[in-house]
Amino acid sequence: MSIAAAAVYPGPLECAAMELFSVAEKHVVVTGASSGFGHHFAGLLAGHGAKVSLGARRVEKIETRVAEIQAAGGHAMGAVLDVTVRASMEAFFTSAEAAFGPVDVLINNAGIEAGAKTYTMIDEADWDAVIDTNLKSAWLMSKLYTERVVTNKQTQGNIINISSITDTRTIKGQFPYAVSKGGITRMTEVLALEAPRYGIRVNALAPGYILTDVSRLLLESEQSPEFVKGIPLRRYGEFEDLDGPLMLLASDASRYMNGSVVVVDGGHICASL
Ligand SMILES: NC(=O)c1ccc[n+]([C@@H]2O[C@H](COP(=O)([O-])OP(=O)(O)OC[C@H]3O[C@@H](n4cnc5c(N)ncnc54)[C@H](OP(=O)(O)O)[C@@H]3O)[C@@H](O)[C@H]2O)c1
Repeated sequence: MSIAAAAVYPGPLECAAMELFSVAEKHVVVTGASSGFGHHFAGLLAGHGAKVSLGARRVEKIETRVAEIQAAGGHAMGAVLDVTVRASMEAFFTSAEAAFGPVDVLINNAGIEAGAKTYTMIDEADWDAVIDTNLKSAWLMSKLYTERVVTNKQTQGNIINISSITDTRTIKGQFPYAVSKGGITRMTEVLALEAPRYGIRVNALAPGYILTDVSRLLLESEQSPEFVKGIPLRRYGEFEDLDGPLMLLASDASRYMNGSVVVVDGGHICASL
């Protein structure tokens, strides 16, 4: 086979690799899918044959993304979801299951930050909003998901928590965001211990800095050119940099991974002190 033909028609090795990382027919729930990572993940997964359920509060953005995915031939549904409201989570799971059946993969991605404030600057409302959205939600979504896995008599489940490199290293002004991400990583490890009895494995993806509404304040600040020099690969990440690790965690290629935190940051946390 010529090189050109090989690029179009995968050979046996490529076929095996594609099968290994396949998410085809898997039903994947993505929280916070109206923008940023979640918006990207939904398209990525649907593009590889998954049935995706998208949730967030800005339902018009969700509807637009669902329409884009469907227009490209993918399978997607969307519904309003507020991860700080238990009834909203329950209603969302019910709609998602009605559309595509039992959920194979839950991606706890929804998140906010408090806006470059130190611990003395934030108030209780900031604390509650960030901790409820980033941390409490991941626990409650995982608990409700687990109940459904049991009720549906599913033999397997898969939870992916979106953590951050601020779970271990941080800079001033990321309170309580970094606290919430430290909690998400710890939660991933504890759930990895407790969830396998229900057939569920739990891992986390810990991205470095990628331009979205969560990181905009820092990445578009005057500090940014200096900050980026601390990344050994000398650039911020792009959404596509997360594709391989996300496909790994969502597919059966990671079937023996449980409690892993996959860091994707261009080496940022290895930067010299
Ligand atoms: N960007 C980075 O550099 C970076 C790095 C590491 C980790 N992360 C993490 O990646 C995740 C996604 O963030 P992003 O960077 O993609 O920012 P983003 O574009 O602002 O996305 C955040 C998403 O969370 C949703 N959300 C916020 N509050 C919600 C709520 N109460 N209920 C449901 N959905 C809610 C938002 O949708 P609605 O407003 O429509 O509800 C939005 O879709 C977050 O967990 C973030 O901490 C980001």
